[in-house]
Amino acid sequence: MGKIPALGLGTWKAAPGEVTEAVKVAIDVGYRHFDCAYFYHNESEVGAGIQHKIKEGVVKREDLFIVSKSPHQGWLKRMASFLVFKPGEKDLPLDHNGMAIPSETDYLQTWEAMEDLVFTGLVKYIGVSNFNHEQLDRLLNKPDLRVKPITNQIECHPYLTQQNLIKFCQSRDVSVTAYRPLGGSCAGVDLMDDPVIQAVAQKYNKSPAQILIRFQVQRGVIVIPKSVNPGRIQENIQVFDFELAEQDVSDLLCLDKDFRMARFPIPEKLACVAPLPLQKMLASTLLLQGTPLDWQRRPWPVMGVAHSDLEGCLCEAA
Ligand SMILES: NC(=O)c1ccc[n+]([C@@H]2O[C@H](COP(=O)([O-])OP(=O)(O)OC[C@H]3O[C@@H](n4cnc5c(N)ncnc54)[C@H](OP(=O)(O)O)[C@@H]3O)[C@@H](O)[C@H]2O)c1
Repeated sequence: MGKIPALGLGTWKAAPGEVTEAVKVAIDVGYRHFDCAYFYHNESEVGAGIQHKIKEGVVKREDLFIVSKSPHQGWLKRMASFLVFKPGEKDLPLDHNGMAIPSETDYLQTWEAMEDLVFTGLVKYIGVSNFNHEQLDRLLNKPDLRVKPITNQIECHPYLTQQNLIKFCQSRDVSVTAYRPLGGSCAGVDLMDDPVIQAVAQKYNKSPAQILIRFQVQRGVIVIPKSVNPGRIQENIQVFDFELAEQDVSDLLCLDKDFRMARFPIPEKLACVAPLPLQKMLASTLLLQGTPLDWQRRPWPVMGVAHSDLEGCLCEAA
């Protein structure tokens, strides 16, 4: 099983106009893992930054672990059959109230399509995102499982420590990737202002963000903070020169209140976006994404998420 770099750059809500520079800075300061998604509508710009640094000779393509996510299962099926996603199709299947329509496809079937992608060489690894314990257990117990998930990408921070799920994933040799590690920009809640986190930051003479990132690293959890600010991009990777004492980790774990901050964005403008031709998209890792049940009014079992190499973006940017 391949190794995912312990720290990556998140790119959700990174405006296309600023993410290329952010990626360049990130590569210069040592990031080798980029978390992207078709859904973020900035993949070409991320790819442009990557391509720039490859051309400069700063990194080689094979040094990079680049993540992309496909919008939904229908897209994933097309991907599996090498067809091109038609411009104008919806990112997410929505009902007339703008709510996501649950997929009727069993995710185990989708997983088989994803496994085919591995065997046809379109992806190197496959994994899952937002899978709970039951979903993951069902997948891992699939009798004819050909490829194990490499990671489960989930929301994780001191207000949502995910201790049981992490324990379960790690016991089954599935790595965990923490998204929203800094609390993002959740309206009305600023994780970094939490007095406990502030106190720990002061104790180590580090920023609250560095404490939050180090907290995950120390738990053996891969972490993908987003920033487009050069200073903060650098700050966020400077977490390997100190260690949190057991008591501090335990204090951070005590902040858990099962509080989920991420909300899936369904702005109207998502409806019509021309995606990349799939022939150009040589993916390295493909994740199958479930959605926490409280994100939507009704359960939305799974949607396809591709962790790809963004070759399409690199081609487009060429
Ligand atoms: N699989 C999924 O369903 C899923 C869902 C959500 C997110 N994700 C992934 O996870 C990544 C991270 O999550 P996220 O973007 O939601 O939230 P996040 O990384 O927890 O927080 C990002 C926010 O924190 C700010 N920030 C970054 N570094 C900082 C620092 N050192 N000090 C102060 N503020 C700082 C950023 O602003 P600046 O940019 O201005 O620095 C941005 O507003 C996403 O970008 C995305 O790639 C995946």
